[in-house]
Amino acid sequence: MTFRLRVDEVNQNQISGAISSGTVCVGDRVRVIPQATSAQVTEILDTHGAAIQSASTNQKISLSLSLQEPITIGSIICAAKNPVEASDQFEVILHWNDENPLLSGRLYCFQFGRQFVDGTVTNIKYMLTSNPQSHQAAVTLSRGQTGVVTISLKQMIAFTPFEQNQTLGSFSICHRLKYHTLASGKIKFALRRASNIHRQALHIDRNKRAEQKNQHPCVLWFTGLSGSGKSTIANVLETQLLKLGKHTCLLDGDNVRHGLNRDLGFTDADRVENIRRVSEVAKLMTDAGLIVITSFISPFRAERQLARERIGDNEFFEIFIDTPLEVCEQRDEKGLYAKARAGLVKNFTGIDSEYQAPTSPDVTIASNTMSPDQAATQIIDFLKKNAIIK
Ligand code: ADX
Repeated sequence: MTFRLRVDEVNQNQISGAISSGTVCVGDRVRVIPQATSAQVTEILDTHGAAIQSASTNQKISLSLSLQEPITIGSIICAAKNPVEASDQFEVILHWNDENPLLSGRLYCFQFGRQFVDGTVTNIKYMLTSNPQSHQAAVTLSRGQTGVVTISLKQMIAFTPFEQNQTLGSFSICHRLKYHTLASGKIKFALRRASNIHRQALHIDRNKRAEQKNQHPCVLWFTGLSGSGKSTIANVLETQLLKLGKHTCLLDGDNVRHGLNRDLGFTDADRVENIRRVSEVAKLMTDAGLIVITSFISPFRAERQLARERIGDNEFFEIFIDTPLEVCEQRDEKGLYAKARAGLVKNFTGIDSEYQAPTSPDVTIASNTMSPDQAATQIIDFLKKNAIIK
């Protein structure tokens, strides 16, 4: 068996953990993954702090290595001649164990040993049933269900497939804010799709594009119920920004759902994907130097937070169009509330699908107490006050 130890603790030059396979001796050459640096074992201590010459499977030890660079928790120290792999995308078997079903595209926290990494489930391939020969199609996993899914992490991790090593090949998923466990998983294999794709260096960067337009790119992320006035205010705001000589783009839910997102409906899973794609597009548009206005219900806090993180805190401003449900329902310009109440439209926000109001929006517009012009002016004032526009 080859030596593998996942780092649970780092204390100055000493790293600690339990050996998950093999034997290590003082003087052995090892490799640290994912850093891919190699080093020599200079000292091994047992749990009482006594120096020992070698240690093997299941033993908890502290190691010192001939290495200058810092080692991070979660790295795997392994035999230099037979190192483990590193990747950020995997096919895994996932057992879901939370009352809220799995949503692919939502940001979760993945735990490997003592290492926590943010990531998403990118695709639910199929659900496993009691008959191993049959695969059942699935768009989500509910409590107690197990499926084969692909995941994408925000950073590379060291791993072995579960089949080779149960400790190093398993992980759990936790809630990003509440930290309770949602699921447990086993790594099948790393996906190679990311390994041959490199970032292309460009001559013109986002700063140059913004400079040319003489503006500070940002995303004004509108959120609010259907009929709250998002699109009306967004339109007036864009007109005012244009008059100020700004370069803008308005992404509107109803329009984007006719093109890029025409394959998406209104289940929780589809709304998560809708907002994920819009965040990516808005991010590209800020790279192009634009001031982007997005007008989507975006009902879930987790996805608005994902958008904020994708776009960057200093370029993302949450604009809450705060119109009470009764007012939206009374307006009912598209007749959708009436249909939803009659059960003709399912999963309608505010009726039988949740709207999670922002807890600390950058701007709150009480739209039923002011005109769209006044609302747009309130947003422009906010942008001026924060030196986003002059
Ligand atoms: S989001 O929830 O995924 O952000 P989005 O803003 O793209 O929604 O689309 C909302 C628009 O789709 C609404 O303004 C409304 O015209 C229309 N719509 C159709 N069905 C629904 C539904 N079930 N819930 C909410 N909006 C719906």
